[in-house]
Amino acid sequence: MRRTRAWWRGAAALALLLLAACGGGEGATSEFVPLPSAAATPSIAATATATPEPNVVAAASPTAAPDGDGVIVVACGDPLVPLDKRHRLEEDCAPADLRPVPAAFAWGSHSVAAAALGPLVEMLEDAAAAGHRLVVLSAYRDYEVQRGAFRSHVERLGLEQAERVSARPGHSEHQLGTTVDFASAAVNYELVEAFGDTPGGRWLAERAHEYGFALSYPRGAEAVTGYQYEPWHFRWLGRETAAELRASGLTLTEFLRRR
Ligand code: DAL
Ligand code: ZN
Repeated sequence: MRRTRAWWRGAAALALLLLAACGGGEGATSEFVPLPSAAATPSIAATATATPEPNVVAAASPTAAPDGDGVIVVACGDPLVPLDKRHRLEEDCAPADLRPVPAAFAWGSHSVAAAALGPLVEMLEDAAAAGHRLVVLSAYRDYEVQRGAFRSHVERLGLEQAERVSARPGHSEHQLGTTVDFASAAVNYELVEAFGDTPGGRWLAERAHEYGFALSYPRGAEAVTGYQYEPWHFRWLGRETAAELRASGLTLTEFLRRR
């Protein structure tokens, strides 16, 4: 049988999922990432050289009409599309210009869309200068990887709980290449709610907009966003839009739906 690139990607994602040491307890890891061991500290030596994902031709323009499930397929290549339970990307939509996150700031190999890389690095450098060593635990995830992540959550938590912490494939902001999950030693490099109460997590919440990033899933907004509080998950919008969002007082979900 001839195996397609998508098949291999799916197989690789499954292998990673088997490695993932997700918490499962109260406030524990709610997104898929392969977690480092407790003692390990990310460093250039410890992280593999990141390689950019292969270029994938962007899907054709969006359909404004809802598909069979009432879900709207949004434009591929627009960093400001809403992505939530009601909006999704095409399966083959991927950034054509992915760049590796520098190993000094990453746990594992991760890539982001070129436009987000400069602001990301600047933000992480400034955070480090302020005494907060933050690392990227997850960034771009293609459709197949997200499919595996969602399935893994369903197996572990059941469908109802999985829907609160993991996006279905096509619905994740990580597929844009502009969304990043951060962690630090203070939370043992895990994606946990406690990150929001650490100095590094607070610094991000207060300063990320200056670099064009926004927290997608704030505390207490699940009824609007569809997801539990994720103090680690930031999406790059560009400085101007991030400032507009902040001034609006809306959640990112509401803001992007109104554009
Ligand atoms: N955890 C967020 C919702 C995602 O899976 O993209
Ligand atoms: Zn995330």
